[in-house]
Amino acid sequence: MFIEEAERLKELPQYLFAEIDKIINEKKSKGEDVISLGIGDPDIPTPSEIIEELCKEAKNPVNHRYPSSYGLMLFKEAVSDYYDSRFNVKLDPSSEVITLWGSKEGIANVAYAFINPGDVALFPDPGYLVYKIGTLFAAGTGYTMPLLEKNDFLVDLKSIVKEVAKKAKIMHLNYPNNPTSADGSIDFFNKVVDFAEKNNILVCHDNAYSEIYFDENKKPVSFLNAENSKEVGIEFNSLSKTFNMTGWRIGYAVGNKKVIESLGKYKTNVDSGIFNAIQLAGASALKNHSRYIHQNILIYKSRRELIYNTLDKIGIKYYKSNSTIYIWVKVPGGYNSKSFAELLLNKANVVVTPGNAFGVYGEGYIRISITLPDARLEEALERIKKVL
Ligand SMILES: Cc1ncc(COP(=O)(O)O)c(C=O)c1O
Repeated sequence: MFIEEAERLKELPQYLFAEIDKIINEKKSKGEDVISLGIGDPDIPTPSEIIEELCKEAKNPVNHRYPSSYGLMLFKEAVSDYYDSRFNVKLDPSSEVITLWGSKEGIANVAYAFINPGDVALFPDPGYLVYKIGTLFAAGTGYTMPLLEKNDFLVDLKSIVKEVAKKAKIMHLNYPNNPTSADGSIDFFNKVVDFAEKNNILVCHDNAYSEIYFDENKKPVSFLNAENSKEVGIEFNSLSKTFNMTGWRIGYAVGNKKVIESLGKYKTNVDSGIFNAIQLAGASALKNHSRYIHQNILIYKSRRELIYNTLDKIGIKYYKSNSTIYIWVKVPGGYNSKSFAELLLNKANVVVTPGNAFGVYGEGYIRISITLPDARLEEALERIKKVL
């Protein structure tokens, strides 16, 4: 029997790095020690108090029944309190917050809630691929917004063609940014709100890295800090990177009531919410956010410095930023993203992500992730030093 897969799967962009994956697998099968700086998945464990809260709540039979697709009120109240204390943004937990299976789920599903076949969605390039793929799955048309170093990797709103802006229904944004590590600003978000109001566009801002920053005086802001932002958009956020909970699958969206309502309407038909015990543990994490965030930042800060210092010593350029678990590195002359990543893999047994894995404007860069214990990171850097 052969059942043809759906066109939407066949139309997925080609996986560019099959060759690199092949080399990694060959090396591993020969028992070689390959160090991966390619993955954006925190190696630091979830704080033990959060795990204990999960264990306690998992034993309560009240939590064994179907949860609500819109989320548990206690979790949504914790999100609302966190947004108030961290960003000074007021949210009504019952109508302006929805729980998600991680922000990735919400980013993909917002397309199903709003995109009709042929509708246009704008997304950053380089960028997290789900903005584009969610749009394609919903039979929408993607329009690339290049992120360029000369603009500090902010979207250049003026360069968006007028007819495209008029047609566009959604604009995806992400600051602090994966993969470039660039920050947004209130000034930039105010301009985005203006642009969205003029062109009747729903802004979907992804703030998954809001709590990984290195200068206390430059904490990342929320899109909802911009004036009238709730009129035009929502923000996705996540417990994944903030509390080292990527495996738990819990995130949320906040902002415009009608958009949250529509997202919930879609979700009630495709999922049945997140295990209440996970939401309750998530609520306890959010309540104590400052303590946990501080611990993470201390660890990431020293790792980042270590990499910056090594790159400076070997004369490799990179984008100096204030946030995220990534370093956006320029490939040296004579290489492109792929050939440089292959060099590091072949000669140093170190995996990095080629920049063009995130879109055509990522060409000329590689992304290094700092989610590795110090000793492994030092070993990886020693190996890289020997090759260059
Ligand atoms: C920019 C960005 N947004 C969203 C996500 C997804 O996070 P979550 O675990 O909340 O689904 C990631 C994961 O790497 C990411 O890099």
